[in-house]
Amino acid sequence: MPHHLDSFRLEEYLAPREFAAQYMFCASDLESRTIQQVLDLLSPKEKELFLNLPLSYTHTQGDIQLRQQIASLYRKIHADNVLCFAGAEEAIYATARVFLKSQDHAIAITPCYQSLKSVAKSICSISTVDLELIHGEWALNVDRIAQQIRPNTRVLFLNFPHNPTGFVPSSEVFQSIMDLAQAHGIIVFSDEVYRGIELNPQDQLPSASELYSEAISLGVMSKSFGFAGLRIGWVTSQNPELLSKLSKFKHYLSICNSAPSEWLATAILRNSDIVLRENNRLVKENYKIVKNYFKTQPHLFQWIEPKGGCTAYPKYLGAGNIQSIAEQLLQNKGVVILPDWVYEQNNQHFRISFGRKNCPEALKHFSDFFSEYKTR
Ligand SMILES: Cc1ncc(COP(=O)(O)O)c(C=O)c1O
Repeated sequence: MPHHLDSFRLEEYLAPREFAAQYMFCASDLESRTIQQVLDLLSPKEKELFLNLPLSYTHTQGDIQLRQQIASLYRKIHADNVLCFAGAEEAIYATARVFLKSQDHAIAITPCYQSLKSVAKSICSISTVDLELIHGEWALNVDRIAQQIRPNTRVLFLNFPHNPTGFVPSSEVFQSIMDLAQAHGIIVFSDEVYRGIELNPQDQLPSASELYSEAISLGVMSKSFGFAGLRIGWVTSQNPELLSKLSKFKHYLSICNSAPSEWLATAILRNSDIVLRENNRLVKENYKIVKNYFKTQPHLFQWIEPKGGCTAYPKYLGAGNIQSIAEQLLQNKGVVILPDWVYEQNNQHFRISFGRKNCPEALKHFSDFFSEYKTR
């Protein structure tokens, strides 16, 4: 029997809108750079090497130099602990397919990037644990995760910094989740695609793959780095068996990564400090003006502070439904936001983002819309 995968609400919502609209005020990735801007980081000799790169198959695990650069983003991870994938998405799909069987059970934290729960749901039973709003802040109750654990629970799917809320737990809470998983022999799949973009650098968590031997951590060039078009993602784990199983499954998917993408990703990661510094600066500048706006509109929005990543998930308090307001906003002002319907929620929350250069303009059109909307 083929597995039934739910339609991907978020991707299907964005597909007709994201390239047609003027302002993606809910993009999940950081501002991108051009190939020329990447080449500008290189010496003439390196540029020549790139132009002479064979466009052939590459190693399934990922090019060794790329894996070494990825490993340098961590403290306890070596090139052998890294397996590359075509984006983060392929790694999520492979993990659920490899480690879950029909008799198993999985747990995901919601709302979430849909594949973190939908792929598992197409294979086995799954329980979800909602992030909670406590005293105006996002929070995760670890006891609720514990309550969901069954004897057949195999994988716990996490994502911090969290998309869409920007929630990051304290390192103590994160460690307690690892301890809980270890006590029950559960694999932790930790989506860390926003690691490195924290509004307060002290909130950066260690990678789950450095804390727990049965953890698989997910990274990607798309989000914190802003190079989604490369489609280079990776997982890290201290357990070679987990990586070997995933690597064998990759033979049925992309087989290997794109050679030029691997090369460019390696060059970018050699300069990861510069890229992350500039991206953090952009996020912080944008965040300041976004927060100022939302804080001055308490009658219209409940603003809930994100701690990391480039998205926030405020609540709309005014009249009307956020789903139809999102459509009017798009039609009247060319601004895309993401209503919580795409997360299978109906609480008037919506995702906005502050990782793109045109964020101030997008916010201006967003605020114009609401001042006109109010007076109607
Ligand atoms: C939390 C999270 N994980 C994974 C992905 C997939 O990333 P990619 O498009 O690089 O495969 C996304 C994309 O939006 C995401 O938000």
